[in-house]
Order: sequence, then C-alpha cells, then structure tokens
Amino acid sequence: MKDRSNALIELLDGQRVIPVLKIDRLADAVPLANALVAGGLKAIEITLRTDDALDAIALTATEVPGAIVGAGTILSPRDYSAAAKAGARFIVSPGTTQELLDTAHASDVPFLPGAITPSEMMSLREEGYRMMKFYPAEQAGGASFLKSLVSPLANICFCPTGGITPANAKDYLALPNVVCIGGSWIAPDKLIADGKWDEIEALAREAVALAAAAG
Ligand code: 3PG
Repeated sequence: MKDRSNALIELLDGQRVIPVLKIDRLADAVPLANALVAGGLKAIEITLRTDDALDAIALTATEVPGAIVGAGTILSPRDYSAAAKAGARFIVSPGTTQELLDTAHASDVPFLPGAITPSEMMSLREEGYRMMKFYPAEQAGGASFLKSLVSPLANICFCPTGGITPANAKDYLALPNVVCIGGSWIAPDKLIADGKWDEIEALAREAVALAAAAG
C-alpha cells in the first residue's frame, strides 16, 4: 500500500511544534513567518480562516524561503487546490471527507487529514495514512485518549491540536504516537496585531526548548 504520510513526515524534518496561524492583515504574514523561523520553527500552518489567508500563503512561500508553509482549515477540494496553487507545501484538515481524499490523492502536496475516532483512524489507515491530525485534541479526550491508542492502533501517529498550551504540551510530546503538536499559543492574535515579532520569536524559541525537554 502506498504510504501517504511519509512525504509530510520527511518535510517536517523532526519539528515537533507547528504554529497554527490566523493572519488578519496580509502585511503581518512575512514578519510573522520571519519571527517564527528565527525562533526555530520553520514549518508553519496558515489557516484559511481569514480573507487574506491564500495571499498570505503565497507571499510567505516566496518571501520567506526558510519557511515551510502549509495551509490549514482546508475543508473542501476547492480549498485544497487553491492552497496548493498558492504554494502551500502541506495541507491540513480538521476532519476528512472522501472528496478531500480524492483531491489529495491527485495532488503532489502532502495531506494531514483529521480523525478523532478509532473508526476514522482505521479508515485513513486503509487509505495509506499513518499520520493524522487529532482535533480538537483537548476536547476530544486529550493526551490520555491518544495514549490509549498506542497499543491497538500501533503504527498510527498523530499531530494533536486544539487547546494545547505550554502547560499541557509535554503530556502530548511524551507519547510515542505523537509526532508533533500544533497550536496557536506561539502566535497569539494580540501579539500579531501589535507587531510584537520579538515576543513571537521568543515564544517560538520556548516551544523548541519545550519539545527538546520532552525528549
Ligand atoms: C487548529 O486549527 O489546529 C486549532 O485552532 C489550534 O487550536 P488552538 O487555537 O487551541 O491552539
């Protein structure tokens, strides 16, 4: 069976914290990405939750060559294709539909599909995915839920996101089936709005240190 997660795992290159970004002003995209890359987080996820998201992906992909820019909150084939065209190098969805899978399988841009139940995870496994997004992580059962999947769903690994903070990140990062975690705490709306790039860079450094400490 084709391994549909390998390309993404290689692209992330061991990065264990992925900043999940909501960019309200296009002008913020490049300085924000530069701050995150300077702080040690090259792979970033720009969510399609704002009008400027696709332009932000395109701009960041060209202007910040050190960044690995992905697109998040991809809900439809149209979103997938638009994000890939804008230059996204990976695609993240909170869930999975057959239409998204069909689009992903016709695309060169790797896909991180979402699943929260063992049945959804088993279906994705049958499609060749061994890495999945687990969202919303805290609300769906948190680290203890994922821990209980280590044995029955061996060989499936996760990127949990949703409700993760520096306080609970280590619980996830310590699990053998968690490749990386995602979160918006590294780039809070207020710091972006105020252009506090140094503070965001510092939060990125702290996230790198936190992941290193988790082993
Ligand atoms: C996501 O899209 O993955 C989440 O919105 C991130 O969740 P958080 O804002 O709770 O970190």
